[in-house]
Amino acid sequence: MADHIQSSDSGLNGSNDKFSRSGFIFAAIGSAVGLGNLWKFPYITGMYGGAAFFLLFIMCLLFVGLPILLAELTIGRGGRGSAASSLVRLSGNRLWGGFGVIAIAGAFFILSFYAVVAGWTLHYMVLSFSRQLFADADFGQRFAHFNGSWLPVLWQFVGMLVTSAVVYKGVSSGIEKFNKIFLPGLVILLLLLVIRALTMKGAWEGVEFFLMPDFSKLTTESVLVALGHAFFSLSLGMGTMMTYGAYVDKRQSLGSATLAIGAGDLIYALLAGLIIFPISAAFGIAPDQGPSLVFIALPAAFAAMPLGWLFGGLFFLMLAFAALTSTVSLLEVPVAYTQDKLGWGRRLSTVVVGCLCFLIGIPSALSGGGLYGWLSFGGGRFLNGWILSPQTLFCRLAALL
Ligand code: ALA
Repeated sequence: MADHIQSSDSGLNGSNDKFSRSGFIFAAIGSAVGLGNLWKFPYITGMYGGAAFFLLFIMCLLFVGLPILLAELTIGRGGRGSAASSLVRLSGNRLWGGFGVIAIAGAFFILSFYAVVAGWTLHYMVLSFSRQLFADADFGQRFAHFNGSWLPVLWQFVGMLVTSAVVYKGVSSGIEKFNKIFLPGLVILLLLLVIRALTMKGAWEGVEFFLMPDFSKLTTESVLVALGHAFFSLSLGMGTMMTYGAYVDKRQSLGSATLAIGAGDLIYALLAGLIIFPISAAFGIAPDQGPSLVFIALPAAFAAMPLGWLFGGLFFLMLAFAALTSTVSLLEVPVAYTQDKLGWGRRLSTVVVGCLCFLIGIPSALSGGGLYGWLSFGGGRFLNGWILSPQTLFCRLAALL
């Protein structure tokens, strides 16, 4: 055990497969930046107070998120194992492994529904580039029709396949290379779309809503949602940062890395807001209409703008890039655990865990009604239950105490 801690220049359990310095920063920002920033953040900002909520989110990120991020990375690098074994190694007490197992289970279940939404973005990207998305103006009906069919399972499968292929190739030739290509691609797409959004007539109203705080809109619920989102957005409490920490070189400064990851996460959220709110304002779309904002309201806006099929396609491509750099980090968590715990190789672990996660995600993919309306629990949809991420649930439970 002590050997692992002292020889902390190696990767997982002494293997040589680890990140380069820049590769780690890319991969960790890729994990943090995801559907949370680009899909969830704009609509919760719309729902819970606009700019005032954004400020609250920044405070939660700075004062709660970043110290926990640093702690998770430190545990991972010190323990050099999966989220569970790193905790056991550093504490010297097997019971601590239980917290790691909870985090690993969290990553697994989050991935099961996250891959479903990643699949939606891939489907909408194809629909937009092929212009089929604009064949009929009833976007709500289209989304309901898609969601009530088998197609989400197919696209969830595609999302899981890409994710598994990357993780299968390993840390430096898979995860690092993938993030080094897709993260800059994501920045280019974001900047392109920000310019398009800000040059629309009426865009300024949206910018004002996003950046001019009105503190009277804040509620206790806003604080809890901001806190939960800071956790989700930095990929905390789900074992990803502990697992990525196990692949970091011992000479790399974790303090600077933490600041870079926090800044990256915030910048992406800011850019996402600078796309969604100006477009919403320019087309008279209410920005507080929940998850449907991106898949129902925005397609209507793309339909009404010149070259909308192109901008729509690029927008969904951007979402897909962001989603996949996060799904990769989520899958790595249970894959590292099965390698550690069962002594399996990376390839076997990836295939088994990837298939299991796909199967567990099928009810989420089919929960849009239609064929499998019976999967509704308590009147709410199966997927909506998951979307209340474990962190948000935790914050809500804490508020009851
Ligand atoms: N951190 C990832 C996201 O924000 C899970 O989507």
